[in-house]
Formats: sequence, structure tokens, C-alpha cells
Amino acid sequence: MNDTSRIFTGPDLTRGVSLSRIPDGSVLQGHAHGEAVVLARHGEEVFAVGAFCSHYGAPLADGLVVGDTIRCPWHHACFSLRTGEALRAPALDAISCWHVEQRGGIVYVGERRPFAEPSELRTGSGMPKSVVIVGGGAAGNAAAEALRGEGYSGRITMLSADASLPCDRPNLSKGFLSGAASSESNLLRSPEFYRKQQIDLKLNARVSRIDTEAREVTRTDGTRHVYDALLLATGAEPMRLDIPGHDLPHVHYLRTLADGEALVSKATVSQQAIVIGASFIGLEVTASLRARNITVHVVAPGVVPMERILGADIGQFIRRLHERNGVTFHLGTTVASIDQRGVTLKTGERLTADLVVVGIGVRPSISLAKDAGLAIDRGVTVDEYLETSVPGIFAAGDIARWPDRLTNERIRVEHWVVAERQGQTAARNMLGRRERFEAVPFFWTEQYDFALAYVGHAEQWDEAILEGQLEDAAYDCTMTFRRDGRRLAVAQVRRDLAGLLAELDFERTKGGVTDEENSQGRRPRDLEFRGGTRAREDPQGAHEGC
Ligand SMILES: Cc1cc2nc3c(=O)[nH]c(=O)nc-3n(C[C@H](O)[C@H](O)[C@H](O)COP(=O)(O)OP(=O)(O)OC[C@H]3O[C@@H](n4cnc5c(N)ncnc54)[C@H](O)[C@@H]3O)c2cc1C
Ligand code: FES
Repeated sequence: MNDTSRIFTGPDLTRGVSLSRIPDGSVLQGHAHGEAVVLARHGEEVFAVGAFCSHYGAPLADGLVVGDTIRCPWHHACFSLRTGEALRAPALDAISCWHVEQRGGIVYVGERRPFAEPSELRTGSGMPKSVVIVGGGAAGNAAAEALRGEGYSGRITMLSADASLPCDRPNLSKGFLSGAASSESNLLRSPEFYRKQQIDLKLNARVSRIDTEAREVTRTDGTRHVYDALLLATGAEPMRLDIPGHDLPHVHYLRTLADGEALVSKATVSQQAIVIGASFIGLEVTASLRARNITVHVVAPGVVPMERILGADIGQFIRRLHERNGVTFHLGTTVASIDQRGVTLKTGERLTADLVVVGIGVRPSISLAKDAGLAIDRGVTVDEYLETSVPGIFAAGDIARWPDRLTNERIRVEHWVVAERQGQTAARNMLGRRERFEAVPFFWTEQYDFALAYVGHAEQWDEAILEGQLEDAAYDCTMTFRRDGRRLAVAQVRRDLAGLLAELDFERTKGGVTDEENSQGRRPRDLEFRGGTRAREDPQGAHEGC
């Protein structure tokens, strides 16, 4: 056995494989020139691309081929099979592509193809000469990169109140807190990246005012920046406790990289923690603290963790998951006060702790927009192009409330992938593209070895249908959330393909159909898939890209 066969799975694609081994819409894992490569087929065309997603390295062989694109199984990034370009966040970097040749029914992988450079887009009439982005988070960073990716050559200024470069916020409560990832690896990009891309990124640069007439923003230090187009991407802030002891030094919140670093440094010397709030962040923090062998008690007002979003079945499962990992829950109560030695619950019970982490939700940071007179509705109101009530000013990410094409309702979500995709769409619309924001909302959570991904949006639902198993010893399932018979969202555990197909189905059918429509033969394609099934077919044969 040589080295290559030890490391790589599948055939050596430079020696050729029969086209018949790659049915239309399927992928084949192999290797070429010392790298893992997948072949993906779309009609008579076969493409060769890098085998791993450029986001967190998911195996694209488990992804879904949709037309001449491939979608990642873990967080649904989408790549062009023709160019390798990352068409949809959360991946920001392209994957490699290789030349492919077909001779006599055999497919051969040739040399690697160079990455495509964007052609320069001249700043002419109608094109903004300067773009200012307020916010250096998911949406702001994705917007700045998308502007350059589109070939925009005008001035880009990104103003961030954070002290750090744009960071991978979702990982702050996961790998970063558990100790698996360092501060440096948590940054989305290096300082050189912004220099090279000529993105003028200012840190610790809080904007205090927007003058919509003069088209300029003013920072708290008095510095002004004029803009032709403005993107507001100010995100959200953690809700703060207002109880005795709330400001003690061992009480932590988690939003920024600085918060994350402070929490990690405290966690390294802590033995007993109390997490207030059984939200996604609270429970991810809990799992990460357990990875550091810290005793954790969780206090939350709900009786079942995350029941409102995920339903009682998943909520109870998550509770048992944490209990199996040594966590103690105090549910149906809240914390009355905090002191140096621990907390006192409303019930009078005392809990000892040298670390308290508060994760009780966030509030969108909309005061800047509100003070500037932009339309506000529990968020910044935007149209389908993500433009606010003031022409030339766009909003994206946690602050934006947009008309959702799936439900025809205005929604606002706090998801990483949505924020990035909105940043990208807003960027293109600042360049005059008039692209509707139609992406299906997506989020994920990871706690211990449990990972859940959720597509769609079901703020209110009246039915949650479990398919599969959600037992403590074995779990792989989908949970479908419906309202009035209409499918609004699908959560999946260990069924990546079902999640990808649900997303595609939402895109194609504009949401689930009602049971009545179903009986008339308009039921969307059956989404039942078992864990481990690989994407082998484009389900409707209708090849559409991302
Ligand atoms: C610990 C943690 C874990 C998470 N895990 C997940 C997950 O697993 N999956 C998921 O989908 N989502 C997750 N999220 C949510 C996700 O991170 C957010 O939805 C996303 O970051 C929102 O992007 P945004 O660009 O709108 O805001 P942010 O990323 O918060 O960026 C906002 C930016 O605006 C800046 N800013 C604010 N006000 C001003 C001002 N006045 N002037 C200048 N700059 C300003 C801030 O400094 C910051 O740079 C998590 C969030 C946290 C905190
Ligand atoms: S690993 Fe592919 S999108 Fe996250």
C-alpha cells in the first residue's frame, strides 16, 4: 500500500474512471495529483473540484449537486462546479478546480485550473464612488468581500465598534470556548487580507450619527465619512441582567472576540459555573465549559429548553443530553441575585459558582437607524432588495426585517448564514443589481457530539412532526414544523441530505403546501431520507444553480 492509497479514498482520477460510475447529479470521491478530489456530474458534463468545503472542511462528497453547483452538507454553502467560486456563504473562499477530459466513456482529471480573478467594475454613472459599511461582523464583512468580488474598485470603508477584526462569532461558544480553536484562527481574515483588498477597516470605530441629507456618518470621536451608498450591519447586543451583583467581574456575556477571550481566561481558572439562560448560546457555552471539566448548573425560566423554537421532543432530548454530560438544570425559575460565591434563585435556593455566564437573548442594535429617521419595526425595515426606507441606505444581518418570500411575512432572524448572505445581496444591490433577497433561512447548533441544522423559519407553529429516532443512545431524525398545515421549517439531526433537500424544496415550491393542496397532488417531494445516504441525484432533474 503506498502513501496515497493510505490517505485518500476512491480511485486515482488521473488514471480515469468510467462515466457510468457517475450518474447524472451525483458525486464520486477520488484523488488526483496528491489531493482529495470529487467528480460531480451535471448532464453530460463532469467537473472535478476539491473534496472539502472551504468553510469548516465538510466532505463535499456528502453534499448535493444542484445544476452546475454543489452544496455543502454541514452549513449549506454553495460552490460553482465550473469555477469553484463560493456562491453562497458561509464559505467565503473558492474551492480548487481541475481540468476534466472525457475520452471513450472514460473521465480523466488533468491539471489544476487557476482561480478566476474578478474583472474590474469601473465606477461609472449610477455606481457609488464610495461605500461605507457600519459593522464589522458577519454581514458587514461579507458585504465588503462581495463588493470586491464583484470587481468594485471604489472606496470601501468598514467601521466596526469591535476591538478585533471580523471574527467567527458562532465558534466563540463552541470550539473557541472549549479550547479547540485559538484567537487567531477565530478571525475571518488576516489584516493583510483587508489591506490587499483595499478595504479600509477601522476598529473601535463606533458610529453615533447618520446625516442622510449630507450622506455622511459621524463616529463617536468626531471623525466623519461621506458615502454614496451605506450599509448598516450593526448586529445585536446581549440583553443584560438588572439584578443585584449583575456587574461583578465574574459575570460574563458573549458576543465579541474580546468577550470570548475574557471568558476563556476566566474558564481556565474556574471550577463551578452557572449559565443563566438555556438558549442556543447558553447551552453551547455549557457544553464547552463541560469540555473543560467545569461543573455547570443551568438556570432558565422555561420548563423545557428551547421548546418554543424546536419543540418539546428535541428540547427534552437536549436536556437529557446535557444531563448525561453532568449538567444540572434549574428550570422554571430565574436568578434573583449574584454575589462573589454564587447566585440565589427566586426559589431561595443557593448555588455556588466562581463563574456566571449570561445568555438570555439579544436585542438588535437599531438606535443609529432609528435616530436617522429610518423606518423601524422591531428591526430596521427593508424591502426585498434590503434597501431601507431611505434610498441608498441598506441594512443586513441581525437588524434587518425583510419580506420573507416563503411566508410573505416580514421577518428578522439572528443567524450567521443569513447575515452573511444578506451582506452579499446588499453589496450587489448597492452596485445596482436589483437582486431580491430570497435565501431560505438557515442556522445550526453544536453541543457535544450533537449537531442540529434548521432550514426555513417557523416563528409560530402548531405542529412539530418527528420522523426518525431521537433516543439517547441513537439519534437521526427530521422535525417538520407546520402552521395551518403549511410546512414552514425543517430541523435535522444526522440527516444532512434531508436538510439540503428541504432547503431546495423551499426554494422551488415557495414553502410547503397545505394538506389540502397535498391531497390535490401538489405535495412537495418526499423528504424522508435516512442518515448516511449520499447525494446521488438531483431530485427533480431540473438543474438549477444556487
Ligand atoms: C456566541 C455566539 C454563537 C452563535 N452561534 C451561532 C450559530 O451557531 N449559528 C447561527 O446561525 N448563528 C449563531 N450566532 C448568531 C450570529 O453570530 C449572528 O446572527 C451574526 O453574527 C449576525 O451578524 P451581523 O453582521 O448582523 O452582526 P454582528 O456579527 O454582531 O456584527 C455587528 C457589527 O456591528 C458593529 N457595530 C454595532 N454598532 C455599531 C456602531 N454604532 N458603529 C460601528 N459599528 C457598530 C459591531 O461592533 C460588530 O462589528 C451566534 C452568536 C453568538 C454571539
Ligand atoms: S463546512 Fe461547508 S458550509 Fe460549513
